[in-house]
Amino acid sequence: MGLSDINEIRKEFPLFKNEPEMVYLDSCATSQKPDRVLNAVREFYEKNNANPFRGIYDLSERATEAYEDARRAVAGFINAEDPEEIVFTRNATESLNLAAFSLGELLVGEGDEVVISVSEHHSNMLPWRYMAERKKAKVKYVDCGPDGSVSPEELAKVMSDKTKIVAVTAMSNVLGKMNDLKALAAMAHTHGAVFVADGAQSVPHGITDVRDTDVDLLAFSGHKLLAPMGIGVLYGKRRLLEDMPPFLTGGEMIERVSTEDVIYAGSPHKFEAGTVNAGGAVGLAEAIKWIREIGMENMMKRELALTKLALTGMKKIPGITVVGGENAEDHNGIITFKVENVHPHDVSAILADENIAVRAGHHCAEPLHRFLGIPSTTRASIMFYNTEEEIEKFLKAVSGIRRLMGYSE
Ligand code: ALA
Repeated sequence: MGLSDINEIRKEFPLFKNEPEMVYLDSCATSQKPDRVLNAVREFYEKNNANPFRGIYDLSERATEAYEDARRAVAGFINAEDPEEIVFTRNATESLNLAAFSLGELLVGEGDEVVISVSEHHSNMLPWRYMAERKKAKVKYVDCGPDGSVSPEELAKVMSDKTKIVAVTAMSNVLGKMNDLKALAAMAHTHGAVFVADGAQSVPHGITDVRDTDVDLLAFSGHKLLAPMGIGVLYGKRRLLEDMPPFLTGGEMIERVSTEDVIYAGSPHKFEAGTVNAGGAVGLAEAIKWIREIGMENMMKRELALTKLALTGMKKIPGITVVGGENAEDHNGIITFKVENVHPHDVSAILADENIAVRAGHHCAEPLHRFLGIPSTTRASIMFYNTEEEIEKFLKAVSGIRRLMGYSE
């Protein structure tokens, strides 16, 4: 299908019809959803809605089938070996909490170490710290470069024979640089540690191949990937998932229970306690189908062109500093910036007055802002469905901010 006519593509997104004047530059917070995804969710509830795994009547079996089809679609999308390596969760945050709790139980004892980077979103920082506190283990930080990337050489400096887990983002939600997961996973494995990647930002903006990169666990959300909110994924290598203990307990995650004993189900079901979000999973599968038809390469190409346009324009505006790498390739659609002497909340409010949606603050990455020596920033995040006209409108609005705040330039 491709992306040659972006205005036709935009017609598939109802929000753009309902908000024709809005310039949406906050897709890293959540993406917009195409009709087909919304219709797939609706169709699930209209035609196949019963509780998956519970009933042996046809409707429940159809619901189970739809849910398991979605698992297969996700596995194919990230090149997992087996659909059973896909655990459905609520979002990337829940996936990372599951990973931290369960790996903590399996691997971490007093005095052990967990390595994370300073550039992590709080979702890939606080679950490890919380677990380490309970286990009397130590959290060590690996620094990132000015573009946000974490190098295997820096990682090696903080690893020791006590390092049990390395958890690093695949792409910073503030700076946009993709990390070399394959090299980081190899370094973690050299030291015998499990490697966990936070793919919340990378999966919607790049090609994900869990077999090639050899990550042990990978977390991501559906809602940044054109799918509904409330569905997330934890990919895990099959043998590791089998060894990991459950996180949430309750219905449908067991083989047998007596008043004294319990035998848990195998993976992935032992990690999916309670009624699952089958509608969300169906929506995610449809989003993946849509992306495959458009082509992830085409989406990436378009995002790069729009990022180049935005970066080139930003460099020409006095008083603006873009944070992160020099090149558009370092940003993957993320333009995080400072406006000299203007608070990011004012920047964002001025842009909102022009109907331009961006995010201001520390973007749930406060330690990264401290590391960079910046209290807070404004972030515009671009997705393939943005237009050149929208980027021009954004640049024009940014160029007027300092004047609006009373500065002569
Ligand atoms: N993690 C999302 C963001 O970066 C919410 O905005």
